[in-house]
Amino acid sequence: MASLHQFIPSIFLFIFIIKGNSLPKYPPPSFSCGDGVNFAYPFWQRSQKPNHFGYTSLGVTCINKTPTIQLDNNHLYRVKSVNNSENSFVVSFYELGDTTCPVAPHDVVINRSSFLTYSNNVKLVNFFYNCTVYPSGVEPIKCLQVGARHSYVFLDGSVPKFDWKTNCDSLVTIPMSIESSITTDFGKGMKQGFELKWSTSVECASCEASSGLCVYDNEQMFSCSCGKGGRYANCHERGLVSSKFKWGLLSIGLLICCVIIGVTILYIVKKRKDGSYKRGFNRLPTGGK
Ligand SMILES: *[C@@H]1O[C@H](CO)[C@@H](O)[C@H](O)[C@H]1NC(C)=O
Ligand SMILES: *[C@@H]1O[C@H](CO)[C@@H](O)[C@H](O)[C@H]1NC(C)=O
Ligand SMILES: *[C@@H]1O[C@H](CO)[C@@H](O)[C@H](O)[C@H]1NC(C)=O
Repeated sequence: MASLHQFIPSIFLFIFIIKGNSLPKYPPPSFSCGDGVNFAYPFWQRSQKPNHFGYTSLGVTCINKTPTIQLDNNHLYRVKSVNNSENSFVVSFYELGDTTCPVAPHDVVINRSSFLTYSNNVKLVNFFYNCTVYPSGVEPIKCLQVGARHSYVFLDGSVPKFDWKTNCDSLVTIPMSIESSITTDFGKGMKQGFELKWSTSVECASCEASSGLCVYDNEQMFSCSCGKGGRYANCHERGLVSSKFKWGLLSIGLLICCVIIGVTILYIVKKRKDGSYKRGFNRLPTGGK
């Protein structure tokens, strides 16, 4: 019965493929972490892996009712609001405590070639922390003064000429959606965060244009869901893409399984028959002379 043991694992493999391929419920429900910010497609809840509607980078994790998202270099940000009609959302540093004089924890570098861009109201702001030598006639941030160490903040483009790199402990550049004076209101601005806009991801464009929604699986394989079961390139052509390939594999697999089972059964039946014939012959009286 060695052949039976051989095809049992393959049966499990196919069950696994079917299960891993199941589509999430349509339409994807909106959700919130409990703090009043509501999320809809293309956002999705990270706890919903492996298959999910929505863009891979817009996965939301709830941490104690605070919705968070991972952006540049997997840094964690708090999502403060979402506007689905404007394709925009506002984020701030997750690490920011409840201080009026916050320190920017790290640079923010949004990949400009990605589908996320800063909104028009976003300005880049430069912080120079703990400078031991400073240029004359420039106002430091009063609340960050530690002894003779001064810290400074300037809008990008209006940084006074000075060797900041040599004379300060750290240089951090972050985006802010701020209108008022940066020197006095940088704390408020950092807490308010900055606005990002998303555009339709490239592979998703023809799917969404045909009123479909994009689904990604564990391997970040993309497919288009059109409401009923099935995975497509888009909802006009209804041309099966990835699933065609996988269903093809599945049918070939099942066919091979059937053949193996069939051959095994035939083999067993034949062996039994041969055996019984032999036994039958054995029982036949030998020598009929
Ligand atoms: C989204 O932005 C538009 C235009 O600024 C505004 O009219 C609308 O109220 C906003 N929606 C939400 C939910 O904030
Ligand atoms: C920026 O995004 C593009 C497209 O998503 C990607 O190919 C590239 O590697 C990214 N660059 C960085 C520095 O992350
Ligand atoms: C500035 O220096 C002080 C004293 O060494 C330190 O406590 C503080 O964390 C430093 N601030 C920054 C932003 O590096």
